[in-house]
Amino acid sequence: MSELVSLTKDGDVAVITINNPPVNALSPGVPEGIKESVAKAAADDTVKAIVLIGGGRTFIAGADIKEFGKMTSGKTERGVGFNPILAQVEACPKPIVAAIHGTAFGGGLETAMACHYRVAAPKALVGQPECKLGIIPGAGGTQRLPRLAGVAVAAEMCAFGDPVPAAKALQFGIIDKIIDGDLLAGAVEFAREKVGQPPRRTCDQTDKISNQAENEKALAAVRDAVKKRSRGLMAPGKAIDAVEAATKLPFEAGVEKEQELFKECLYSDQSKAMIHVFFGERAVAKIPGIAKDTPQLEIKRAAVVGGGTMGGGITMNYANAGIPVLFKEISQEALDKGLAIIKKNYAATVAKGRLTQEQMDQRMALIEPTTSYDKFKEADIVVEAVFEEMSLKKKVFAELEKVTKPEAILASNTSTLNVDEIASATSRPAQVIGHHFFSPANVMRVLEIVRGKDSSDTVIATSMAIAKKINKVGILVGNCRGFVGNRMFHCYQREAQFLLEEGARVEHVDKVLYDYGMAMGPLAVGDLAGLDVGWRIRKEYKHLEPAGIRQPLVADLICERGRYGQKTGAGWYKYEAGNRQPIPDPEVQALIEEEAKKAGIQRREISDQEILERTIYALVNEGANILDEGIALRAVDIDMLYILGYGYPAHRGGPMKYADAVGLKKVYDRICEFEKQHGSLWAPAPLLKKLAESGQSFADFDKAKE
Ligand code: 3HC
Ligand code: NAI
Repeated sequence: MSELVSLTKDGDVAVITINNPPVNALSPGVPEGIKESVAKAAADDTVKAIVLIGGGRTFIAGADIKEFGKMTSGKTERGVGFNPILAQVEACPKPIVAAIHGTAFGGGLETAMACHYRVAAPKALVGQPECKLGIIPGAGGTQRLPRLAGVAVAAEMCAFGDPVPAAKALQFGIIDKIIDGDLLAGAVEFAREKVGQPPRRTCDQTDKISNQAENEKALAAVRDAVKKRSRGLMAPGKAIDAVEAATKLPFEAGVEKEQELFKECLYSDQSKAMIHVFFGERAVAKIPGIAKDTPQLEIKRAAVVGGGTMGGGITMNYANAGIPVLFKEISQEALDKGLAIIKKNYAATVAKGRLTQEQMDQRMALIEPTTSYDKFKEADIVVEAVFEEMSLKKKVFAELEKVTKPEAILASNTSTLNVDEIASATSRPAQVIGHHFFSPANVMRVLEIVRGKDSSDTVIATSMAIAKKINKVGILVGNCRGFVGNRMFHCYQREAQFLLEEGARVEHVDKVLYDYGMAMGPLAVGDLAGLDVGWRIRKEYKHLEPAGIRQPLVADLICERGRYGQKTGAGWYKYEAGNRQPIPDPEVQALIEEEAKKAGIQRREISDQEILERTIYALVNEGANILDEGIALRAVDIDMLYILGYGYPAHRGGPMKYADAVGLKKVYDRICEFEKQHGSLWAPAPLLKKLAESGQSFADFDKAKE
C-alpha cells in the first residue's frame, strides 16, 4: 500500500486517508493508492461503506501541477490518466462518501464527485479552478458537475474557476450535507446511513442536464460572460464546450471529449504561461540568502506621511489588514481632502455590496489623521508618500529619524529616486527600504520592495511579510533608477512613441498591444496615469541624459499644451466630459507628423508585428540587463511584477516567459536587426546574447539560481 494513502477501519466503515502534504495533490502514487484502497475495502466482507478523507489541512487540492510541465516537456510519459481510476471508484458496489475540509479543487472535486456522496466541513471550499492554469477539468469534472449542479452552475464554475463555499455547494447539489464538529465522525455516521442502499453514481444522473432548451440558454449566457471577462483566453471557452458535451453525449463519450479539449489546452503556450504564473507567485516569496527564520519586526502600528493619491491608498491597505495607521499631511486642508477621498473609496465599495457599513466604520476608526509627528514613536513602520523630489524626501527622512523609535522601518514609496540617497539623510540606513506601491495603491496587488545597499535582512524579511499581510505580492528588487518595473516601462513607452514618429498612429499602437492582451495600450495608459508625472521626472533627470541619444519628440510638447491625459480631458487622445473613452485626436497626429518631419524622420507603413516586437522586445532586452545586474533576482520576478503591476496578460506569462516561448535566439536576432536600424538604444543585453547563443532560456537562468 502506498504511504501516500492509508486504509483503516472504524467498525464496519473503511476510512481511506490521503497523506500528501501540504495540499494532498494527486501526485503519482495518490490516485493509485486510492484505487488500491477502494479495491481492498470492496473485497473486505466486514466493510459495509467507505469514507475518503484528506489528512492534514485539506482534502485534495487538485492534480499535482508540477506534473503538467513534465508531461508537456516530454520528461514523463505519464498521462493524467485519472479517469479509469475514478470510474473504478464510482463503480464500487459499497457506498463511498467523500469528507471534504479545506479545499476540494480541480482533480480533488473530481475525485469527490466520483464518490457516491459528499459531506463537508462548514468552511470547506470546492471548485474547478483549472482555467486559471489555462486548462480545463481533465478528470470528468465537466461531465459530473453538470449532473450534480446543473449546466448553468457547472459552466460558470468550470469557465471562471472561482471557489464555491460549502453552504452554496449544498444549495447547488454538489455536496449532500454540512457536518458541524468532527468531520470524520460525521462522515462515518453518514456512510452508515447509506449502507444497504444502491450506490448513487453521479455518471448515471441525468435529470439536471435533460432540458436542452434551458441548457442552451445557460451555455449561451456563460459564453457571453466569458467574452467580457476572459479576453484572449482559450480555456474558458473549451471548458464550456466540454460542459456542452455533457448535455449531448453519453457519459463515457463526454469524458473522451473532455480529454481531447483538456489536452489541447494543456499543450498550449497559454497553459504553460499560466502554470508559470501559479508557481511564480509562490517563487517570488523565496529570497536567496534570507533564511525563512530571519527575525522579523512585529507590525502593530503603521504611519503614512503624505496623504495624496498614493498615501491614501497605502493607508487603506493597513486599515484593511486591521493595523492602526497614522495618516499625516502637511496641513489640515490637505488632511481633510485626503481623508475625504479614503471615505469616498470605502463608501463606493459599500455601495457595491463588497463591504458592510460596519466594516467601513471599523476601518475608518483605525485611521488616525494628524498634521504632527506626535505619535510617530508608536509606529513600527512609516511609509513616506510625499512628492517625488529628492530634497523633500531627504528632509522628511531626517525628520523621521528624530521622531521614530530606532527599530522602526522607514519606507519610501518613491517610484524612481535613489533609495540609498534617501537613506543617507538618516543615521540608520539599515532601517530604510523602498516600498513602491502601484496606483491605485489600495487595489493593485503588487509591492515592489526596493532593497537599499544597507537595508537589513530583518527589514527585508519584515517587508515581504507586510506585503503578504496587506494582501499584496511582494517582489524584492535592487536599487537603480526606476527599479525594475519603471525602468523597463520607460523602454516600452519610448518605443511606442518612436513608432508614432516613424509612421504608426496612436490608436494603432494601442490596439496591437491591447489585442496581444495588455489591459490597455501604452499611450492610453499614459493618459490614465497622467502624462505630467513622467514630464516632471524627465525634467528632474534631464541633466543625466547622455547627449546624442534619440529622445521621444512629442511627449513634452503635449504636456506643454496642458494635455495631461484623462484628468485634463486630453492627452494622447481627447476625451468627452465624463467619459473615459479615448478618441483619436487629429491635433496630436498633426503634431507628431510635424515634429517627425522637422527631425528628418521618414514616415512609413508600420506592421502590427513590428509594433509588437519593438515594444515587447524593448521590455525583454532591458529585463535581461536588469537580471544581469542582479537588480531582479530571477526572470520570474520580472514576469510577476509585470502581470500584477502593469496589466501584462497572465496567459503570456510575463515578458520574459513570452520571450522564452518565442525562442531567445529569434528574439535576439530581431534585436540585432533593431540595433542596426535604430542604433545603440537597441544594443542587445549581454545576458540575452549569451542565453540565445547557448540555446538556453530565462527559465534555465532561473533554474541555475535555485
Ligand atoms: N500541485 C502542486 N503543488 C501545489 C498544488 C498543486 N495542485 N497546490 C498547491 N501546491 C503547492 C504550492 O506550490 C506551495 O508550494 P511551496 O510551499 O513549495 O511554495 C504549497 O503547495 C502550498 O500552497 P500555497 O502556498 O498556495 O498554500 P495556501 O494554503 O495559500 O493555498 C490552495 C492552498 C488554495 C490549495 C492553493 O495552493 C491552490 O489554489 N492550489 C492550486 C489548486 C488548483 O489549481 N487545483 C487544480 C489543479 S489542476 C487539476 O486538478 C486538473 C484536473 O482536472 C485533472
Ligand atoms: P500626490 O501629489 O498626490 O501626494 C503627495 C502628498 O504629499 C500631497 O498631498 C502633499 O500635501 C503631501 N506632502 C508633501 N510634503 C509633505 C510633508 N512634509 N508631510 C506630509 N505630507 C506632505 O503624489 P502621489 O502621486 O501620491 O505620489 C507620492 C509618491 O508616490 C511619489 O514619490 C511618487 O513618485 C510615488 N508614486 C506615485 C505613483 C502614482 O501613480 N501617482 C505610483 C507609485 C509611486
